[in-house]
Amino acid sequence: MDQIVIQGGRPLKGEITISGAKNAALPLMAASLLTDETLSLSNVPHLADISTMARLLAQHGVSLHMNGGAENGSNGGVLELRAGTISSVVAPYDLVRKMRASVLVLGPLLARMGEAKVSLPGGCAIGTRPVDLHLKGLELLGAEIALEEGYIHASAPGGLTGAAVVFPKISVGATENLLMAACLAKGETQLVNAAREPEVVDLGECLIKMGAEIEGLGSDRITVRGVERLKGASHAVVADRIETGTYAMAAAITDGELDLIGGRADHLAAVIEILNEAGVSVQETNRGLKVSRANGRVTGVDVMTEPYPGFPTDLQAQTMALMSTADGASMITESIFENRFMHVPELSRMGANVNVHGASAMVRGQERLTGAEVMATDLRASVSLVLAGLAAEGETVLNRVYHLDRGYERLEQKLAACGASITRRRAAE
Ligand code: EPZ
Repeated sequence: MDQIVIQGGRPLKGEITISGAKNAALPLMAASLLTDETLSLSNVPHLADISTMARLLAQHGVSLHMNGGAENGSNGGVLELRAGTISSVVAPYDLVRKMRASVLVLGPLLARMGEAKVSLPGGCAIGTRPVDLHLKGLELLGAEIALEEGYIHASAPGGLTGAAVVFPKISVGATENLLMAACLAKGETQLVNAAREPEVVDLGECLIKMGAEIEGLGSDRITVRGVERLKGASHAVVADRIETGTYAMAAAITDGELDLIGGRADHLAAVIEILNEAGVSVQETNRGLKVSRANGRVTGVDVMTEPYPGFPTDLQAQTMALMSTADGASMITESIFENRFMHVPELSRMGANVNVHGASAMVRGQERLTGAEVMATDLRASVSLVLAGLAAEGETVLNRVYHLDRGYERLEQKLAACGASITRRRAAE
């Protein structure tokens, strides 16, 4: 298994090109199931989760072709997907358990084929993460749903029918599944208390290019008027706001200065507000964002994660790494997932002073962190340890690097090009 080895204490300086967003690309790929024509997606990041979704779609009968990409320095790959005929409506356990976003094939398969059988994803490292909101929403559109032998059996032989779906809780995935399903339902669907994340908007904009009739994207009330069929389209995946925020924190934690090419301030307003309060300068440039630490240590600031446009849970662990080095204390409250503090014991091994009380963590900033051997259980926790390692004195060895490969494209190359000492090596057994 690979390890990442970091010699800390070097300020990062230079520029990093932001990749296409994983969490936008995954639902966009699933949307290819809605049409028998070609969906062409550009700015698709090369990531393990994208490959998993590609494998899942291939076994449904989608033909996929990836051209170009990050290896040769270009800006993401162009992925062509064509679901000419769907050969299987089954999403098997061995793929779904690898990646929960696999459940996003449920809405499109059901809408196009009148039937889908998708493995229940089960729990994961950051919480129980049920899919009840996806299922209740699809039932309101007329689907019959049964849970048997670990699978969701969904059927709507006569097709889906538009309805009002009021989500009791905001869910990105449930909004995306319902949005896709509603495009081919008869009549009008209202999604109320819908997720407003830029990734949902990106999906909706692509669906509109495919011929869908959608209004209210980016608000909490989305209206979809169903159409008979959708067609092919070309769409560029939105820039990854979580990758942008992660590298902004890398600049801040190392006392550096980074130009984040393609980074979008409008998608990071809550994060920029917190960074500014902490004493980090974030400026919009004509190519993206310039981030630098204004002067001395950052100041401790309280943070609470919330659905968009609030502070993203996917930047909570990275913020904790930053606040571990702050002058003063910071209360970090996680309101989205019930078990998303697994980075705490690992950060503590590097000298961070963090006490967790329920959904909140009190972080008392330290003058220095020290390198250590660490491991993490999910993507964002792993990258928070990379950030801590970049700032720490001495060597940090990060195990279970495969988590990073799920969501950060060319992480070591991007950081090394800005002066970080970071390498990947095969661990001794
Ligand atoms: C998406 O997950 C992201 N994944 C996550 O990114 C992100 O952390 C999360 O949204 C929140 O922003 C993708 O986009 C592929 P939710 P999703 O449904 O859609 C509860 C990363 O690191 N809930 O918005 O699965 C749920 O348990 C990741 O890239 C239900 O109760 O998240 C959670 O507490 C990890 N019932 C809350 O809602 C449901 O049916 C929000 O989850 C669905 C969700």
